[in-house]
Amino acid sequence: DPTKKVDRFLHAMRLHDDQLVDISARFQAEMKKGLSAESSAAAAVKMLPTHVRSTPDGSEKGQFLALDLGGSKFKVLQVKVREGMGIRKGGVEMEEKVYPISKELLNGRAPELFDHVSESLKDFLHVKKISLEKKHPLAFTFSFPCEQTRLDKGLLLSWSKNCRARGLQGKDVVQALRDAIDRTGGMDIEVLAMVNDTVATMMTCGFDDQYCEVGVIIGTGTNACYMEELRHVDLVEGDEGRMCVNTEWGGFGDDGALNDFITEFDQDVDAASINPGKQIFEKMVSGLYLGELVRLVVLKMAKRGLLFDGCVSDALRTKGKITTAHVAAMEEYKTGLKNTRDILVELGLNPSEDDCIAVQHVSTIVSFRSSNLVAAGLAAILTRIKQNRHLRTLRITVGVDGTVYKTHPQYPKRLHKVVRRLLPECQVRFVLSDSGSSKGAALVTAVAQRLASRKQ
Ligand code: BG6
Ligand code: GLC
Repeated sequence: DPTKKVDRFLHAMRLHDDQLVDISARFQAEMKKGLSAESSAAAAVKMLPTHVRSTPDGSEKGQFLALDLGGSKFKVLQVKVREGMGIRKGGVEMEEKVYPISKELLNGRAPELFDHVSESLKDFLHVKKISLEKKHPLAFTFSFPCEQTRLDKGLLLSWSKNCRARGLQGKDVVQALRDAIDRTGGMDIEVLAMVNDTVATMMTCGFDDQYCEVGVIIGTGTNACYMEELRHVDLVEGDEGRMCVNTEWGGFGDDGALNDFITEFDQDVDAASINPGKQIFEKMVSGLYLGELVRLVVLKMAKRGLLFDGCVSDALRTKGKITTAHVAAMEEYKTGLKNTRDILVELGLNPSEDDCIAVQHVSTIVSFRSSNLVAAGLAAILTRIKQNRHLRTLRITVGVDGTVYKTHPQYPKRLHKVVRRLLPECQVRFVLSDSGSSKGAALVTAVAQRLASRKQ
């Protein structure tokens, strides 16, 4: 059985429930650190206040423009929110256009990246025949860690994933966008809110389901947010009510907290990334890295003579040649094994039947570890919410989005199963929040408008 040698070779990646419980406990400790005033500055898990104080209640309405930057696609949208109707009943209507962004822009200067963003916005207004004369409220989904002091102000703490445009770190991202819109000219845009994609995902799902108080992304990167008691958020004044906290769990492990779970393959992926030493958890979990982990394992096994009779191809030696889409294809229910063969042949290899079975199994172990780690993080968040509210059982909905979750055939099922096994006392519902990031940003803006109008 060719899967046996893979199991032996990758034993460090196969996490048992007691290890997941351990990881979950470590993550709980990290959350505490990130929330408390004394330790937050040095915390690996940043626990950022979002200034979103409530999930939608269905009374949101209005018409908004939205920008969605930081996932696998940059999108401009128009979102119409109608009062009293859930999303499934057509309460949120949306038109979107994807605008490609080149590698050069992502690695160039931030003002140029933002010029592209605002020029795309202008093009969108033109294409959709939206009046340039009128003033338009705009919601901005920006999927990177920001220290927010208000809904419409946030300093970029660091870039992650595949973006590192120079000149924005430590600066207000909303201001950078407003400046770019001014430079482009000819539009009357009011940037009302900036939100992380996790927050937007939670809000979208919360429009239909009042139990949705957690948002998770498993896409290019990974992250989660949830509704925390305000009295625990040291960085924000006030003790009443709740606030959504963006955990930035991708940084879990950046201080060594996961060192005993890190394999040589994780170290290699980290070393070859644009941010070595940063986003350690993200690099074990998310779409930007899963394919690369599989490639590095397969390469090492081949070099050891455990695959392909010890033969290695140039493509197999090349970074990025196995992608997360390949991983998903290799684990497809019926066609997985054939897909694995096709992928290996494409890489210039000559696999035997046993090689295909073994490589498919590598892929399974890598993607299973990812969903296990997400389950451990999520279990920590749900346990925290349960304790916060002094509940013995918790009924909660988790909104999820991201290409890994959406396109990997087995991922959602595995994730749900492990979370429910780790937390038998919780009644957890998972809802795919498709395009949640864009709709949700508009909903945040609508909630903000509603609260503002109540105060007047
Ligand atoms: C999408 C959002 O639905 O989910 C993105 O519109 C977001 O902006 C994303 O970041 C996460 O997934 P991915 O796979 O695109 O990074
Ligand atoms: C990265 C970003 C985070 C985002 C996540 C998912 O981890 O730092 O802000 O939510 O990717 O897109």
